[in-house]
Amino acid sequence: LEAAFQSKTLAGKRVLITAGPTFEPIDPVRGITNLSSGKMGYAIAQAAWEAGAHVTLVSGPTALDAPYGVQRQQVQTAQQMHDAVMAQVNTQDIFIAVAAVADWRVANASDQKIKKTSDSDTPQLQFAQNPDILASVAALPKAPYCVGFAAESENLLEYGAAKRIKKNIPLLVGNIGHHTFGKDENELVLFDAKGHQALAKADKQSLAKQLIDHISGELRGAHG
Ligand code: CTP
Ligand code: CA
Repeated sequence: LEAAFQSKTLAGKRVLITAGPTFEPIDPVRGITNLSSGKMGYAIAQAAWEAGAHVTLVSGPTALDAPYGVQRQQVQTAQQMHDAVMAQVNTQDIFIAVAAVADWRVANASDQKIKKTSDSDTPQLQFAQNPDILASVAALPKAPYCVGFAAESENLLEYGAAKRIKKNIPLLVGNIGHHTFGKDENELVLFDAKGHQALAKADKQSLAKQLIDHISGELRGAHG
């Protein structure tokens, strides 16, 4: 019993997680989105709950069921994800941004379905930048412990280290996009102020547990 109690490394902690893609409408039947199955974020939510945390998952559209014990809020757009996060982040100890948030939304989205007219006449989409949810949270005066994710297509070690500093967060988790999208396994690299460390290729559940262990350790280190 004592061992089981001790393994609840996040007992009493509140963890807020974003996961999945966002979907930005072009018109009522079309939109633009990012590649993300949600599997990594959902696995992290499950692992955090298993570690004893109260877990809220703000999720874009995925085909996944809510993990057992986890409170899920489903959203579609980056703006909705931003608003759902900002509404409750003040009470959180840890924020883990796993979502593949669309950097841009369609500024001139149509209220009605855009009709196909002639071959030469194509819709002219204009874009507006979405709020950066992670950067907004990290900039709060009493920010929770913030963890970011980065899927890169090249130069992971260089881009990962730079992105952690740019986002002003203690921990950034990097991976190579085409090694992970939709897959059950992944390879992660953790970037912090001390440098980087790789987590060997494993299934997403196992990586999620390792990441939650790492975060619990960092929190204990920082707060005694
Ligand atoms: N993120 C976010 N809100 C956004 C964009 C990104 O919260 N509007 C979060 C992601 O969930 C992730 C981290 O920021 O944890 C890094 O996302 P990424 O797309 O790699 O970073 P960007 O700063 O958008 O840079 P890039 O130009 O490489 O897309
Ligand atoms: Ca981005």
